[in-house]
Amino acid sequence: MSTFQVTRTLPADATTAALRSDVSHGLGSEPKQLPPKWFYDARGSDLFEEITRLPEYYPTRAEREILIARAADIATATGARTLVELGSGSSEKTRYLLDTLTGLEVYVPVDVSESALVQAGEVLLADHPDLAVHALVADFQHGLVLPETPGPRLVAFLGGTMGNLLPAERAAFLGSVRALLSPGDALLLGTDLVKDEATLVAAYDDSAGVTAAFNKNVLAVLDRELGADFDPEDFDHVALWDAEHEWIEMRLRARTALTAKIPALDMAVSFAAGEEMRTEVSAKFRQESVRAELAAAGLGLRHWWTDSAGRFALSLAFPDSG
Ligand code: SAH
Ligand code: TRP
Repeated sequence: MSTFQVTRTLPADATTAALRSDVSHGLGSEPKQLPPKWFYDARGSDLFEEITRLPEYYPTRAEREILIARAADIATATGARTLVELGSGSSEKTRYLLDTLTGLEVYVPVDVSESALVQAGEVLLADHPDLAVHALVADFQHGLVLPETPGPRLVAFLGGTMGNLLPAERAAFLGSVRALLSPGDALLLGTDLVKDEATLVAAYDDSAGVTAAFNKNVLAVLDRELGADFDPEDFDHVALWDAEHEWIEMRLRARTALTAKIPALDMAVSFAAGEEMRTEVSAKFRQESVRAELAAAGLGLRHWWTDSAGRFALSLAFPDSG
């Protein structure tokens, strides 16, 4: 018998408190910035799903190709009985793992987007009648506590989402993942790879304007949650390659000088004409950088798989013993 259970470890008022603190800090900084997790309200999650189907957005197709080719190897190497997935979204690619991990008993999708978890749950229940699904509405960056489930556990972090964390945040995040793992557990990590600038920029600035709408959606979140009066039409979507940091940077650029009110924070924010606010980075990796970041957290890289075009990588890592 399949079961589906959703646990909120993020009470609604804690979400609001975190949003307030992030917005007052980020929009009070110079240059202005916002953390990316606030993109993902119900509309943001839907827009992200649309991004994954764009011709320019290759990472989803590349990662799917690797999962299809390597799911059996992952099953053999891990013998997982529990699959935990951080930032699971629609869980669409996860099906290749769910279909192939034959000893799997429990799936724990973790996401800040409750709407994404509930939609994914409906599909999962229909397709995997023997699986217990324990969805967690939680922030994977802050004090993640997992339910008691049978080991070995495989923690999957797909989609290149780790690249959306800044380097210091990644180190803290990987350390906290390491702390969740017991001997025999494993981490499956999806990372997008450094490649030519034109391919990278197109993936974050598609011709249909879906990524632009996704980026501007964060302003709609501030308007709804904090009573702000941002007009998304007052901003342009910007995606650029930062060759020094090897990351794509997403920004919103004010078309004219403007001042937005944020009543919930008793705050007014002024933008000069052309001023840019950073809304996200998407770091691109190399095998050596992934290996080094894992090692610094006490995780040993055991398998490195790429798609046939070498655009994206899946890493399988195990905690160092001792
Ligand atoms: N894994 C899916 C979705 C990637 S998009 C894929 O590969 O296609 C990133 C997902 O991470 C979104 O569903 C978003 O809601 C979630 N997310 C972003 N920041 C988060 C955080 N701090 N804690 C939990 N989930 C987060
Ligand atoms: N993890 C995804 C990535 O970095 C998230 C993403 C894709 C994204 N396209 C985006 C975030 C556009 C903001 C804007 O590839």
